Formats: sequence, C-alpha cells, structure tokens
Amino acid sequence: MLADKDRIFTNLYGFAPWGLADAMKRGDWEDTAALMAPGPDAIIDAVKQSGLRGRGGAGFPTGMKWSFMPKEPKPGKPSFLVINADESEPGSCKDREIIRHDPHKLLEGALIAGFAMRARAAYIYIRGEYIREAETLFAAVEEAYAKGLLGKNAAGSGYDFDVFVHRGAGAYICGEETAMIESLEGKKGQPRLKPPFPAGVGLYGCPTTVNNVESIAVVPTILRRGAAWFAGIGRPKNEGTKLFQISGHVNKPCVVEEAMSVPFRELIETHCGGIRGGFDNLLAVIPGGSSVPLVPAHEIADCPMDFDALRDLKSGLGTAAVIVMDKSTDIVKAIARISYFYKHESCGQCTPCREGTGWMWRVMQRLVTGDAEPHEVDLLLEVTTEIEGHTICALGDAAAWPIQGLIRHFRPEIEARIARRRGFVSVPAMALAAE
Ligand SMILES: Cc1cc2nc3c(=O)[nH]c(=O)nc-3n(C[C@H](O)[C@H](O)[C@H](O)COP(=O)(O)O)c2cc1C
Ligand code: SF4
Repeated sequence: MLADKDRIFTNLYGFAPWGLADAMKRGDWEDTAALMAPGPDAIIDAVKQSGLRGRGGAGFPTGMKWSFMPKEPKPGKPSFLVINADESEPGSCKDREIIRHDPHKLLEGALIAGFAMRARAAYIYIRGEYIREAETLFAAVEEAYAKGLLGKNAAGSGYDFDVFVHRGAGAYICGEETAMIESLEGKKGQPRLKPPFPAGVGLYGCPTTVNNVESIAVVPTILRRGAAWFAGIGRPKNEGTKLFQISGHVNKPCVVEEAMSVPFRELIETHCGGIRGGFDNLLAVIPGGSSVPLVPAHEIADCPMDFDALRDLKSGLGTAAVIVMDKSTDIVKAIARISYFYKHESCGQCTPCREGTGWMWRVMQRLVTGDAEPHEVDLLLEVTTEIEGHTICALGDAAAWPIQGLIRHFRPEIEARIARRRGFVSVPAMALAAE
C-alpha cells in the first residue's frame, strides 16, 4: 500500500481549496526556477530515469517521447505541448480530480515539461462536459499569470511560456492525439494518418507533443523528490504512483492514488470496501477503461495492476479505470453496450471502423438474446481481427478488443444463449431433469 508520505496528489479529494495560496502551502510552485535550472536535457533525463510511462492509456515512456522534439526549433516553427484533458474513455475519471482539486500541479508541470521540450506554449484541451473543471482551470491559469508564474520569465526562470485552455465539444475521438490537434486548429476532430508524427508535424504544422494530464501533473514532484524515489515505487518498467478509478460493483467506488503494481485484491479490499456480496461474487473486471478486454475473476484476483502484468493477461492497464462486475452482470449485454459506444463515436473516416463498429454492435445485440446462428460467434471474432490494426487510429482496436475478451472468456455463455433460443435443452436443465 502506498504510504501517505509518497502521495503526489495530496488534495485529490478537495478537502482543502484548490487556489494558488493553498496549492503553495502544499508545495506547488516552490522554487520552480530551481527545478528548471539544470536545463531541458537534464529534466528529460530525470523523467527517463523515473520510469514514468504515459498515463493516457498506451503507457509510452514519457521522457523518451519528449526527446523526439527538436532541440532547436526552426524559425517560424515553434514547438507546442498539448495536454490531453479530454478524458472520455468510459470508466475514466481521474484527470477531472486533478483539474478541480489540484490544478496548479498541472500548470507547474506544463511549464516544466514545456521547457524541457523547448515548447513555446501549452494548450490544455478539456472535454466540453467538464464545465466546472474548465472554470477552475481558467481561474487557476489567471492566478498563475497574475503571480508571474506563467507568461514572460515564467516563475522567474528566464523562460517565456504561455498556457491556453481550450474547451472541446464532447467527442470521444478528440481524445486521440491527432484528432485533438485538428480540433484545436478549428477543424473537425478526425485523426490524421501517421507518419508524420506530431513531434515532426503537429499543431499548426509545428513540432508537438501530446501528453495526458496525469503524466504532466506528476512531473514537478518527480523532480523535487528525485527520479529514484518515483522509480522505487512499483515493479521494474512499471514505476511510480498511479491514480486508479474503481467503479461498478464494489461497496465504495473511488479514485485513489496507489503504488503501481498493487495487486487487484488489495486495491479493492483496502480502498473500495470489497466486492459487493464478497470477493467470491466477482465475475470479471475491465481493468483499464472500456477499450481493454475484460479479465475473468480467477485471473485478475492476485494480478499486479500494471502495464506489463495486464498485458500478459491479454488486457491492459489503459487509464487504470477499473470497472468491476459481479455475478449479477449480464456480461454479454455489458459488452454489447460498449460496442454501441464505439459505433456511436467512430469518426467515420475508415471503412473497417465506420462499417465494422455498426456491424459488430448489431451482432452483439443478437448475441445478448441468443438470436444468432452458432457460426456467427467465429464470424464476429474474425471481423474483429479484420478491424484491429487496419484503421487510421486505435478506435478500431478499442472497438474490437472488448468483444475479443468476451468471446475468449465467456464463449460458453454466448453459445448457451444461442442454444436456448434455438430450443435446445441446456445441459444443466437436462441434469436437473435426470435427478
Ligand atoms: C479513440 C482514442 C481516444 C483517446 N482518448 C484519450 C483521452 O481522453 N485522454 C488521454 O490522455 N489520451 C487519450 N487517448 C490517447 C492519446 O492519443 C495519447 O496517446 C495520449 O494523450 C498520450 O499521453 P501520454 O503519453 O501522457 O499517455 C486516446 C486515444 C484514442 C485512440
Ligand atoms: S479508426 Fe474509426 S475513429 Fe479512428 S480514424 Fe478510423 S474511422 Fe475514425
């Protein structure tokens, strides 16, 4: 369990005001110039040493990502940092807690990260539905400018740096980094083909790095406490603290900062008051937000909650949005609902995603009631593999994976529904009749 002294987000629950005066009491903006004094390369090295991996879902090493940015921006081509506060993945609700209760951690992180990647400014793209959070963020930015922490000679560092807050209009796809860049430019939020990658050609055609809110907000504390401190938490290659967001059939759903690699059972028992009806009542878990495949109870019970352990279970940590489902769940219906979400959110650019998400959802609906032919289960599985990896962005994968997870682990349940619908007597019913 993470010790209180190792918590980064000490105001996660908003027990104290978010404003600058209180943030400073919590240690934010304390001699930021001294943290920046070693220079951009030293900061990138420290972030590499800390082992920080992106908290937006894919877990890409943050320091390495920053090192792709040009060391000497070309004239007329300034570099930009874009901070992804779109947080639209079903189950995810951590970035909003940072923004509404600890926004100065994010702003200080923006300055330091922006300086490290030689960016001229940061754009924070916040999802449209986060109305109160956006208000807090605008006010925090204003406070920071008023105190000289942002703008010219930001925080007395000698570096000029601006932060702009941009509100989205409520489209899941705008969380994808290149769709976000398009949307920031005032266009329809549709992902770009890569390459070129944003570090080469990003916002307004300039070098850009897109990072998640949590990835940026932890940076000042990493530098203050040292890369070795952060790297000492969690398992190798899965270091640091992490905001877990546990929802669903637990007694006390919550957002909590824990050590990366905390075992699932410990996470649930320590912070969520256990599974509704007891641990044996657990059916399955979606460990990283709706796009990752579910993991059945027996596989996840003692699994370390980190990138590599969950990948080994053919799932993923994603954003650490842990959706817990007990045995009362209609698991086929739950995944069908997720399929509907991806059908609804497809931007429509690529045929496999535009057509496939609707097709998969329609089949999934029939699997819920059992109104399907037995061979359609394999057909559906095959279609998921035709979509996965064959689209411009990862929304296609995100639509395919939950269905693959369902078929991998609950195929007998799907087949039993089809058999029941077709009038075959199920095995348990036959056994009952024989008694
Ligand atoms: C469809 C889709 C939606 C996404 N939504 C988000 C999101 O809401 N927030 C986020 O941080 N990353 C989201 N991502 C991932 C981003 O593209 C990007 O990888 C991430 O912001 C990088 O930040 P990190 O390196 O700090 O993890 C999404 C990706 C896809 C394909
Ligand atoms: S995969 Fe889907 S959401 Fe992504 S670009 Fe293609 S159509 Fe749009």
